Amino acid sequence: MTKESESAAPWWREAVIYQIYPRSFCDTNGDGIGDLNGIRQRLGYLEWLGVDALWVSPIFPSPMRDFGYDVSNYVGIDPIFGSLEDFARLISESHELGIRVVLDWVPNHTSSDHPWFLDARSSATSSHRDWYIWRDAEPDGSLPNNWIRAWSDESVWTFDELTSQHYLHMFLPSQPDLNWANPAVRDAMAATLRFWLDMGVDGFRMDVVHALGKDVTRDDPEELRMLGHTPLNDVAVTHEYLREIRRVLEEYSGDRVAVGEVYLLDPSRVATYFGRGDELHLSFNFQSIFTPWRASAWLETIRNAENALNPAGAWPTWVMSNHDNPRVASRLGGQDRVRAALVLLLTLRGTAFIYAGEELGLEDAHVAPDRAVDPGGRDGCRAPIPWSMGDHHGWEENAWLPFGDRASEFSVEAQERDATSTLHVARRLLALRRVSAPLRLGALSNLHVEGDVLIFDRVWEDDVVRVMVNFAKSPSPIDVSSGTPLFTTEELTDRTQLGANAALIVEL
Ligand code: GLC
Ligand code: CA
Repeated sequence: MTKESESAAPWWREAVIYQIYPRSFCDTNGDGIGDLNGIRQRLGYLEWLGVDALWVSPIFPSPMRDFGYDVSNYVGIDPIFGSLEDFARLISESHELGIRVVLDWVPNHTSSDHPWFLDARSSATSSHRDWYIWRDAEPDGSLPNNWIRAWSDESVWTFDELTSQHYLHMFLPSQPDLNWANPAVRDAMAATLRFWLDMGVDGFRMDVVHALGKDVTRDDPEELRMLGHTPLNDVAVTHEYLREIRRVLEEYSGDRVAVGEVYLLDPSRVATYFGRGDELHLSFNFQSIFTPWRASAWLETIRNAENALNPAGAWPTWVMSNHDNPRVASRLGGQDRVRAALVLLLTLRGTAFIYAGEELGLEDAHVAPDRAVDPGGRDGCRAPIPWSMGDHHGWEENAWLPFGDRASEFSVEAQERDATSTLHVARRLLALRRVSAPLRLGALSNLHVEGDVLIFDRVWEDDVVRVMVNFAKSPSPIDVSSGTPLFTTEELTDRTQLGANAALIVEL
């Protein structure tokens, strides 16, 4: 296990990427909303935790109808988060600590406040008209297709009175989809990538990037259309656009990464978005978020990922939570399961994504209807990070969303002091992964289930590390007579059984 043989891999293969939802991370000017200086202030914490990179959810000027996923200027910073200077400082301070910075790029749609759309909507002959997707209704009044927009049972088409045409939006009516078939759109969006690449960002998480190409002549199957159109949009031309995007990244040195949100539920379809090594570098595999807490279910999820990706020569990713889904603790319940899930996340073959607060085992907040703000009902998992035990957990009293339950107990301050906390479990796991080539880079083998225990090996050269996770509510028999324990989520009382929801990593 020499350093030379390890260092051939691009950084993002080995990385643990920490997702920051900036509104909820850390507020430094008392307006109740997290900001870039808040991220800077907590870089020491992130270094201590041991993550390799940050993915920062959108920070661009936005009317915030989808909290930044509705961009009105791709090459600026929303004043609520700070300034371009603050961002430049964030990049340089992160880089000094060896932490890379990945931005969230939202190429599928703009805000309806974006100057491009304001111009497009102003007349049917405006210069930006064809930057968006406009259609007439059929003579009988019916819409161009039967697609349903996200978070609703409504059409993706909204009628615009001024010009008497409909425009397409897969999300809110205030998020019109760009027309990627128009080369001018592709050029303009490539320029936005170069702007941030020039500033030194290490790559992009690309929002709903599988949806850039569209075939509006094709209806969705009747039985699936209530899923909304996004997970059904899978059109060949998108791969051309992705190759163009990839070429922009390759104008730059330093392994700038493209991580796609390819929200298609079949991993073999997701695998096509790696192209022949000329499209995305990485793509989220959301199956893990929807896998129930059962050994057999996880066996299938892992097999599906390996089977889909290995033939494509693609590198897997693992994610347990994000700003769109209930947190692990709320979904699976109990800190023992949260810790075992962290073991899966950080020991499976692939790049790992941690959603800020996952290392604390945070639960979702209960957000009363009068405080709910998200059009997609996702406020609970976006509750502010509790930094301290005191009254407002390191925030002023006006934090934009309520805290989750037991925020003092789950706070960074409380967990830093307690060596047995979930935070320390996460930190120890990250440290182990850092020094273990098998865990970072090794092949996955010997994947199987014994009773309720999921078992797999990670193999790198002569080193073998075995991971065991007990999904049962009671202890399960295991055999670790040989091997050296490297990590456990709870004290290992004997070498013949693994406790309820416990996980163990041994070196063979
Ligand atoms: C992605 C984002 C989500 C956003 C949507 C529209 O799914 O993760 O938060 O609302 O795209 O941009
Ligand atoms: Ca603030």
